[in-house]
Amino acid sequence: MDSKDNLIIFDTTLRDGEQSPGASMTKDEKVRIAKALEKLRVDVIEAGFAVSSQGDFDAVQAIANSIKESRICSLSRAVKGDIEAAAQALKGAEAGRIHTFIATSPIHMKYKLQMEPDQVMDQAIAAVKLARGLIDDVEFSLEDASRTEFDYMCRITEAVIKAGATTINLPDTVGYSDPGEYGSMIQRLMSTVPNADKAIFSVHCHNDLGLAVANSLAAVKTGARQVECTINGLGERAGNASLEELVMAIRTRKDIFPMQTKIDTTQIVPTSRLVSSVTGFPVQPNKAIVGANAFAHESGIHQDGILKFRETYEIMKAEDVGWSTNKLSLGKLSGRAAFAARLEELGITFESKDDFNQAFVRFKELADKKREIFDEDLQALVSDVQIGAEDDAITVKDLEVLSKTGQLPTAKICIRYKDKDHQSEASGDGAVDAIFNAIEKLINSETHLQLYSVNAVTEGTDSQGEVTVRLEKEGRIINGQGADTDILLASAKAYVNALTIMGNPGRLHPQLGGV
Ligand code: KIV
Ligand code: ZN
Repeated sequence: MDSKDNLIIFDTTLRDGEQSPGASMTKDEKVRIAKALEKLRVDVIEAGFAVSSQGDFDAVQAIANSIKESRICSLSRAVKGDIEAAAQALKGAEAGRIHTFIATSPIHMKYKLQMEPDQVMDQAIAAVKLARGLIDDVEFSLEDASRTEFDYMCRITEAVIKAGATTINLPDTVGYSDPGEYGSMIQRLMSTVPNADKAIFSVHCHNDLGLAVANSLAAVKTGARQVECTINGLGERAGNASLEELVMAIRTRKDIFPMQTKIDTTQIVPTSRLVSSVTGFPVQPNKAIVGANAFAHESGIHQDGILKFRETYEIMKAEDVGWSTNKLSLGKLSGRAAFAARLEELGITFESKDDFNQAFVRFKELADKKREIFDEDLQALVSDVQIGAEDDAITVKDLEVLSKTGQLPTAKICIRYKDKDHQSEASGDGAVDAIFNAIEKLINSETHLQLYSVNAVTEGTDSQGEVTVRLEKEGRIINGQGADTDILLASAKAYVNALTIMGNPGRLHPQLGGV
């Protein structure tokens, strides 16, 4: 198979995915996801939009410095400051890419940019030349390509390839196209542009009409050799094409897609879980590949067929996409070596020995409460330890909740911040409300609760509950997570985690030692 048969997987979970309202991530969370994407073996990780904020710059830089196996990319508008910031953030990358873009459709040029097509053309060429002077891998996107006039699309594509673009991306920015139209647009473009053989053609589809994956696959059939996608289909509005669906369609239907990806498909489910837990966006049970029911057979006729011959109803194997077959992982009697070995198999690493020791202590505590510890439990537990280990973390030291029929629930909480304990008590409409009120008595964060969700990490009534709390303050939206077999404790942990991320808690209330 020659290199033309390789399909480049460009993951934009950390950039376009983060543009989902409420899906913003901290630098540390982004690095954790980037490590999972590297393990999944994606070719390119779009780590962020370096110029957009100091936080995004830092995240792109941290990812560029720590990921070795995937190419790291930063988005930039077709302007000098953006391109220079992207290049600066990518300095430490083993392999980097600047992704620069400008809108090319009549509607965007006239109303959004208020520029003439010739001005857009000049700006695009200048941007690509500048970027190529700073890095050898430059992607150029014609934003809103699917609504761009064909002749203009050909001219600008030819010009930016001549200026040094190595990848040309043709986004269906508003999710407007359909597979027939989009596939033939790519084919026509590639056969019309005289220097098309000097670049890789890429697609980037949004899911407004539920066609993102279908459109991307249609373009792959007609010549595109890079697809831009996200884990769980996260992304602006209705999201982007979902990585797991694209990759598994190509793998399952080799007969109609004569190409391959480098993806280690067994990492799909763990990565999906991580993204879901960090963003607080649950995966719907019937979601293809990564939904809890994706491989569940309920009807008797189907079960009978599966038992007789699996392929009667199954086109993929659950274990091939990372649904764990090794369900019985560890238990109360497992020692440090078994714990460390399982974590290594799961690709979980720690910054320090201290963090590992803390995780082991938490594992033993969990094993006392829960008979069987599954891989999913370990993942939740480790996230919990990593969250608690962050600088300036507020942690829950003690919680007592009284909830009795006909009485107002009350909560007493002790939280720890910078080696000092702080206690308070409050009531609320429900037990969770009472806990949050008690925390607020100490922190007075002036945040608004936008979302509260609980997901069971595994099956069974002794499962850990993974709670996500989404808080808003002055337009900033933060998700916090907490996991425990006691969902009230998990709720308290999630709330203080969100407050920790929201900012230095010491500044929020003098009682916690702030100014
Ligand atoms: O949807 C889009 O057009 C984009 C570009 C910036 C690539 O996200
Ligand atoms: Zn997009």
